[in-house]
Amino acid sequence: MTAAPVFDKGLANTVAAETQCSFIDGAKGVLEYVGYDIDSLARNSTFEETVFLLWNRRLPTKAELDALCAEIRAEYDLPEGVWQAIRATPRTAHPMHMLRTLVSMLGMHDHEADADGADANRRKSIRLLAKTPTIIANFDRHRKGKPFVRPDASMDMATNFLNMLNGARPTAAVAKALDVCLILHADHGLNASTFAARVTISTLSDMYSAITTAIGTLKGPLHGGANEEVMHMLNEIGTMDNVEPYIKGRLARKDRIMGFGHRVYKAYDPRAGYLKTFAKQIASDTGNERLYEMSTRIEDIMKAEVAAKGIYPNVDFYSATTYHSIGIDLDLFTCMFAFSRISGWTAHCMEQLVGNRLIRPMAEYTGPHGLTYVTIASR
Ligand code: CMC
Repeated sequence: MTAAPVFDKGLANTVAAETQCSFIDGAKGVLEYVGYDIDSLARNSTFEETVFLLWNRRLPTKAELDALCAEIRAEYDLPEGVWQAIRATPRTAHPMHMLRTLVSMLGMHDHEADADGADANRRKSIRLLAKTPTIIANFDRHRKGKPFVRPDASMDMATNFLNMLNGARPTAAVAKALDVCLILHADHGLNASTFAARVTISTLSDMYSAITTAIGTLKGPLHGGANEEVMHMLNEIGTMDNVEPYIKGRLARKDRIMGFGHRVYKAYDPRAGYLKTFAKQIASDTGNERLYEMSTRIEDIMKAEVAAKGIYPNVDFYSATTYHSIGIDLDLFTCMFAFSRISGWTAHCMEQLVGNRLIRPMAEYTGPHGLTYVTIASR
């Protein structure tokens, strides 16, 4: 017998899937991918190795990692139709609208788009992961009136992305900063966009549809859009002197401070700790110390004002400073999140398809009953 359904607004107390991808203990501030603490992965792993971990539930051997990297690099380039679509995209389009549309378009250029089976889904996951950065970087070039920079298969994902974006190979330190951000954003339990992807794939739709759904969901400011909002806030604050009146003013008006708080973490977001150290280093290397100092001042004020409610910086807070310091435009920040999270979304989709059951919750109807239909002419 099935238990009586319980209304759970926001599904905050509902367990809707089993997963072996990531584990979160919100009270203690713990995040693990497949049992490995996020901090040790950020310090020691690479994004590509993290992808292997999420997809295979174990760390690779050197040969296995090399093989995955080669498969990804072989898929960096885009179908000609997608290069043309980038050229046809309005330069004023928000990058997340562009990304949602062009990732969806990739499905039309993949002869395996509707092929099912684990091997086909793995190949599609590689294509989605490999081609998304090429789309993001070259859309940015297109909108700035710059010529495309084709991907370079001799480079890892972070280096190749920055090389396309800026038309110049990044320093190892800058590429490493991006790689760390990619690791930290790769997976995060059943967050809204991952849930959305799992709902779509549970209908036995295809990988491209599931990832398109996820990108649309990630776009919202309560989810992936927050790091962009953090940067807007830092720009709006402008000076150190303005930090305190700005933050206290917002709190007094009960406005939210972007980059703080989390549905799951009521302790320090474990992704924010190492990122904070990293943001400090990269900000100082790139002459953005003021931004970092403003951020720590905001954190201090928030600690005094709202830490008792369990509100601490989340991953988006220091990723904003990091992305800005490595020269990524602020309206690309959420695309960077998508670039990384495709690894987790695809891992969850492949997981969902093993023993799949359609995800279909219920709604509590709160409207009227038994109304008499009146024809339009008589209303
Ligand atoms: N600034 C100020 N107050 C806050 C904030 C914030 N950022 N977040 C929560 N609160 C307060 C909220 O006003 C409420 O106070 P009270 O009980 O006095 O009414 C209390 O904390 C609980 O808030 P809630 O809305 O019930 O918490 P939630 O779990 O529904 O919200 C959240 C989680 C992430 C939507 C929210 O914290 C928020 O809006 N944060 C800002 C947006 C943001 O940074 N989002 C990125 C999340 S991390 C990326 C990811 O993993 O997706």
